[in-house]
Amino acid sequence: MTTRRAILQTGGAAVVIIGAGAGGWALTRAPEKAREPWSMAGKSFGDWRLDALAYAILAPNPHNMQPWRIRLDGDDALTIYADLARMLPETDPPNRQITIGFGCFLELLRQAAAERGGALTIEPFPEGAPEKALDERPIAHIRAAPGAAEADPLFAAVLDRRTNRAPFKAQPVEQAALDQILIAGGTDVIVSSVNSGDRIDTLKALAREAWETEWTLDRTRRESIDVTRIGKREIDETPWGLALAGPVMDALGAGGVLTRENMDIPEKAAYEQSIEFYNKAIDSAAAFIWMSTATNTRLDQISAGAAWIRMQQAATLQGVAFHPLSQALQEFPEMAGPYARAHEMLAHQPGATVQMLARIGYADAPPPAPREAMMSKLIRA
Ligand SMILES: Cc1cc2nc3c(=O)[nH]c(=O)nc-3n(C[C@H](O)[C@H](O)[C@H](O)COP(=O)(O)O)c2cc1C
Repeated sequence: MTTRRAILQTGGAAVVIIGAGAGGWALTRAPEKAREPWSMAGKSFGDWRLDALAYAILAPNPHNMQPWRIRLDGDDALTIYADLARMLPETDPPNRQITIGFGCFLELLRQAAAERGGALTIEPFPEGAPEKALDERPIAHIRAAPGAAEADPLFAAVLDRRTNRAPFKAQPVEQAALDQILIAGGTDVIVSSVNSGDRIDTLKALAREAWETEWTLDRTRRESIDVTRIGKREIDETPWGLALAGPVMDALGAGGVLTRENMDIPEKAAYEQSIEFYNKAIDSAAAFIWMSTATNTRLDQISAGAAWIRMQQAATLQGVAFHPLSQALQEFPEMAGPYARAHEMLAHQPGATVQMLARIGYADAPPPAPREAMMSKLIRA
């Protein structure tokens, strides 16, 4: 318990620092530079592709790795590649989740172009779909299509969408809001939900077990720790990966309590609190939603991403907070038990793949997550 007290005391000290600091010290701890891409979307870059890409890079993606590499082709086309240095081989060995992130990216690109009336032809995996893991081949080729596209009402949520890891209020999610979220998922995937009854508790227990499996295994925990940025300076300097932002995190980091080294040592407050933080989030779930696909091809994963972001946008418009909990769906060997039970419980038919699972509920929205500048993702033709 001493370790726990240490972090709480330092948390208290942080509050003292904030109180005594002249000129709103807390406000100056916001990683503003890392959040700039959220205000760049909507500006005109003089090329429809850049205008649409400024939105696409705001897509949700695993561990915020932002693995996009974008090549502009001629005047009216572009090709998207995966940055193979930004994969998550320990927690996502087949790059299934990374591919879902590309599905989210492509859907936002489509919506952003449609907002200006532009239709796109999106051809996923034009040189063939990689099987075991993503490779050098393109993820998608996109070109302007003839004719006009209709604006998508879900686009209204693009700048307000957040991954919300906060504990949710004890407030049920009404069936009507849930229905809107499920409808937004469309028909390419099978979407389901639960907002009452024992099943919620069973899912919470499963999500906790899966999270503890991921965190207590050295190589999967370290994959997250390696891309964790603590405090304003680190986040602004390296605006990808998992960000621990805000004045308390900043002060704990500066005080040497919250460090990547300590996060990796069992019994240290930073290690234990990481488990606790996520478990508290899981326990406060008001409802769960998930989706499954009959097969698990790369195209299924791209479709799952498109459906997923649409559901998250619908949730945003309904004022519903949204937090994916992917651990039990991960394909590394030590997760086999939770994976099998998650599939028994959630797959719409035997042999189907559960692509995503999230808890939803109500909580204040966090500030936007860091993003790298859109221009920095362009590669030479
Ligand atoms: C396929 C996929 C899986 C994800 N799984 C998790 C998860 O298990 N836990 C979590 O906290 N966030 C998860 N996320 C959310 C990302 O971490 C988040 O999108 C990223 O950090 C950027 O933040 P933003 O969504 O607020 O822009 C997932 C996102 C995607 C696309």
